[in-house]
Amino acid sequence: MKRIAVVPGDGIGKEVIDAALEVLNTLNLPFKYEWGEAGDAVKEKIGVALPEETLQLCRESDAVLFGAVGETAADVIIKLRMELQTFANLRPAKSFKGVKALYDSVDIVIVRENTECLYKGLEFEVTEGVTESIRVITKEASERIARYAFELAKREGRKRVTALHKANVMRKTCALFRDVCRAVAKDYPEIQFNDYYIDAACMYMVMDPWRFDVIVTTNMFGDIVSDLAAGLVGGLGLAPSGNIGEENAIFEPVHGSAPDIAGKGIANPSAAILSATMMLKHFGYLNEAEKIEKALADTIAEGKTTPDLGGNLKTMGMVEEIQKRLKGEA
Ligand code: NAI
Ligand code: MG
Repeated sequence: MKRIAVVPGDGIGKEVIDAALEVLNTLNLPFKYEWGEAGDAVKEKIGVALPEETLQLCRESDAVLFGAVGETAADVIIKLRMELQTFANLRPAKSFKGVKALYDSVDIVIVRENTECLYKGLEFEVTEGVTESIRVITKEASERIARYAFELAKREGRKRVTALHKANVMRKTCALFRDVCRAVAKDYPEIQFNDYYIDAACMYMVMDPWRFDVIVTTNMFGDIVSDLAAGLVGGLGLAPSGNIGEENAIFEPVHGSAPDIAGKGIANPSAAILSATMMLKHFGYLNEAEKIEKALADTIAEGKTTPDLGGNLKTMGMVEEIQKRLKGEA
């Protein structure tokens, strides 16, 4: 029995997590769900965004299924990732049939370092009108994430790893990251390796995304290029993620609480459902994950989607369509 801490959060976080659980419940899985509160609403109520009980629940769980929070994201999800030492943030971007996007055959996995860089939160006001932020990059964390990226490439039969950096300007931090990636690449001669400056890589991603297979990069750049990659395949409604550590893992859609559509019941549940299937794969339930992914892909291909993908279904309407396909009723 796996213990899953469910932290829906704010806004559409709650809506898409309800939807993902509904889909998981269609299959018979040995999971015990335990709920934790976090986010803007909790902060308003009790003064803290990530209560100690929730943090404890997450620590004790085998995995966390997280929705999204609002303005307290730095206090909640960034803190959770650091506390649980989930050092690798996986963000796949894959094209879906039937989704209007720039391209129809993108398949990239972004492996983002999740514990350091500018996200350490080492920010200071030096004097009025002058602020500072410290960017921490270590050999140890860079090596760990580079190895993770190559191992993932090996495991998934992928052919190339590309490191993104800006070592021409950040001559210490980015140069260290780049050099460590280059050194680790030598241990994986069967996998191609190259590195690009982050700015040029953004242009290549838009104009020629097939150059990329697995991308490995630092925390801040990884955050930015993963939204770019999501945009290439049809938007945040389709972008899942996993944060993987030695002892714990957090699965969450890339998107936030989307206050512009929250409460309307029209959030696309796909990103949360795909995050749940990443969790299934993490636990070794590969068949179940594939079944759900196929049902979701078929649902999308047939245009049974929420408005962000051009359909007219509500969140739960899309869930029903997926369930029908899971049960072989459609
Ligand atoms: P967002 O991801 O919430 O929304 C960006 C745009 O994408 C909006 O137009 C939204 O309607 C749309 N969108 C996002 N997810 C969607 C879905 N599942 N279905 C359909 N449309 C979807 O990012 P935004 O607007 O920059 O931030 C809103 C709040 O979320 C902020 O308070 C921010 O701090 C927080 N945030 C939290 C994150 C987290 O908890 N991991 C991540 C990103 C933002
Ligand atoms: Mg982001």
